[in-house]
Amino acid sequence: MSKSFKLQDTDTVWINGVLATMDKDVDEQYGLLKDHCIVTRSDKIAAILPKDQLNTTLYSHVIDLEGAIVTPGLIDCHTHLVFGGNRAQEWEKRLNGISYTEIAKEGGGINSTVSATRTADFGSLYQVSYKRLRALADEGVTTVEIKSGYGLDLANERKQLEVVRALKNTCEVDISPTLLSAHSVPPEYKDHSDEYLDEICQTILPTLWQEQLFESVDVFCENIAFSLAQTKKLFKTAQSLGIPVKAHAEQLSNLGCSALVAQFNGLSVDHIEHLDESSIAALSEKRTIATLLPCAFYFLKETKVPPIDLLRQYKVPMAVSTDFNPGTSPFASIRLAMNMACTQFGLTPVEALAGVTRNAAQALGREHTHGQLKAGYQANFAVWDVQAPVEIFYELGRNPLIRRVFNGKVSCLMK
Ligand code: NIG
Ligand code: FE
Repeated sequence: MSKSFKLQDTDTVWINGVLATMDKDVDEQYGLLKDHCIVTRSDKIAAILPKDQLNTTLYSHVIDLEGAIVTPGLIDCHTHLVFGGNRAQEWEKRLNGISYTEIAKEGGGINSTVSATRTADFGSLYQVSYKRLRALADEGVTTVEIKSGYGLDLANERKQLEVVRALKNTCEVDISPTLLSAHSVPPEYKDHSDEYLDEICQTILPTLWQEQLFESVDVFCENIAFSLAQTKKLFKTAQSLGIPVKAHAEQLSNLGCSALVAQFNGLSVDHIEHLDESSIAALSEKRTIATLLPCAFYFLKETKVPPIDLLRQYKVPMAVSTDFNPGTSPFASIRLAMNMACTQFGLTPVEALAGVTRNAAQALGREHTHGQLKAGYQANFAVWDVQAPVEIFYELGRNPLIRRVFNGKVSCLMK
């Protein structure tokens, strides 16, 4: 950073933080910078400077972070947090020995949340979703992806996405909405999944896109959901409108969906327990992100771990997310997801933190603006009462977050 940096009157200078920048250009683990300060200007980071390059003695907008660790605001890049009801009864069934797949085949699973979400009115859906979002934000999350997929018809997919839009307008969180109408075949289309897919491609997707209710398209490509051929058709529709795609891929079996996502230059492939080497090579070529969802793996008591070593070998960037949803991951805790990425999947703590910052930003197409402490980036960061970054997700049950800064301002969730 040049010595010619000039403070402006409205700038804020954050001093005495230990900065885990997650910037790859900083040649330290976690991109760690000691003895540096952050200068924020409006909602952006204007500069990260060695403290001796800035004389702040006569300057009034200075915030002393007193040696705390600062990370980029955390990013949860895969959630389904707008839904009605819950699935505790279904969990009890699973604990009594019935599998997730069997429950789905009997019309339970995703479709039971579909009926609870269709019944819920806008206000009640907003209220429950707000509480879930607040739980994430209270752990330092400043960007959240939220999917539709529990409405499964035009009116109810719109209702879900309008709740997402209301959250975006009322809460101090950056939200990335995703259309997941191809999540499950709704009961009125039972045994007619092609017809339902046509309804998505011809009506739901183009209408809600025109209403600017989402920014990417997702699909559940699996034996109990949509086939590879159906997924391709959906992606072609999205591509024709210039909409980025991603997928729930290779979660319960290997259908080759990840390679298809790569072919369409998709943002991410998520779950990927059953991913094979040739698909990994395809992802690596396209810089598609591999999103790991260890809480769903844990809650479904899965045993097949994603191929982490191969992903490392092929340098596929890995994101980590909660997958917060009522069926497979009822956990509104990004710190739990980071902890489990390490304990269940063997990520290093540096990889886990990159998974909820730099790489999660890329999974949302925000890699040039979010997920790093770097000049020009959004001034979203989290300040932690810890001695080392690993402590952020080591001790669960005690939240070490001291401050959450959103768009340059210390924030509670609500304005
Ligand atoms: O990410 N795999 C599909 N979708 C969700 C589960 C949704 C549900 O069970 O309600 C997932 O695991
Ligand atoms: Fe999911």
